[in-house]
Amino acid sequence: MRTPVIAGNWKLFKKQADAADLVTALIPLVKDAVGVEIVVAPVFTSLSAVREKIRGTNIKLSAQNCYWEEEGAFTGEIAPGMIKDAGCSHVIIGHSERRQYFGETNETVNKKIKAALKAGLVSLLCIGETLAQREAEKTFDILRSQVTDGLAGITAVELAAIIIAYEPVWAIGTGKTASDDQAQEAHAFIRGLVAELYDQATADAIRILYGGSVKPENVKGLMSRPDIDGALVGGASLKADSFAGIVNF
Ligand code: PGA
Repeated sequence: MRTPVIAGNWKLFKKQADAADLVTALIPLVKDAVGVEIVVAPVFTSLSAVREKIRGTNIKLSAQNCYWEEEGAFTGEIAPGMIKDAGCSHVIIGHSERRQYFGETNETVNKKIKAALKAGLVSLLCIGETLAQREAEKTFDILRSQVTDGLAGITAVELAAIIIAYEPVWAIGTGKTASDDQAQEAHAFIRGLVAELYDQATADAIRILYGGSVKPENVKGLMSRPDIDGALVGGASLKADSFAGIVNF
């Protein structure tokens, strides 16, 4: 039985006071949610403000990125151990915006996941094809390389600390969600790939979230599909009522 995960990616929004206000409004709206893991990912500088508010609640804290070294002369970077020290249990790795604007590759994603594992963080590994790749019928090739290369050298046991988020790039922030069928097809492919790379039990256990314009209105349809185990939510996670509407689907 896979516990669903609903994660809010706040991206580059919400300074400390606003982040604290958002999570304070969210807490009572999701406090009775059972059988679902709730995660929020504020910007680094708002982590401590959110951490103070979620103490003793059912909300977990995530960072949006990390570096792969533990320390050293790497100005501007943040190590997984530091993220853990800041109170996070999770870290988003390889979001398409990072791949698109900050040059992240499957290789850097792989290094980051390994470093996150060492620090005891759960990684939310983001994968997904662009519109051009989908139209060129390259979706499954792209997903195959993102999963195979992203998880290279990671054992089946370590996979327990990894959640995959399938986020078709053309659906992110566009209001254009993948249809339930399109999402299910990709999720089934990803799970099949994990079975091929590892084994069936590992594939059955891994959580695969869908991301891309998830809203309270479309979450139910997506979640009714057998291989969709939750959502990574951007825009709709920035308001307490809409994020709560997704959590309480
Ligand atoms: P969106 O973003 O919900 O605003 O489409 C999802 C994401 O980028 O994780």
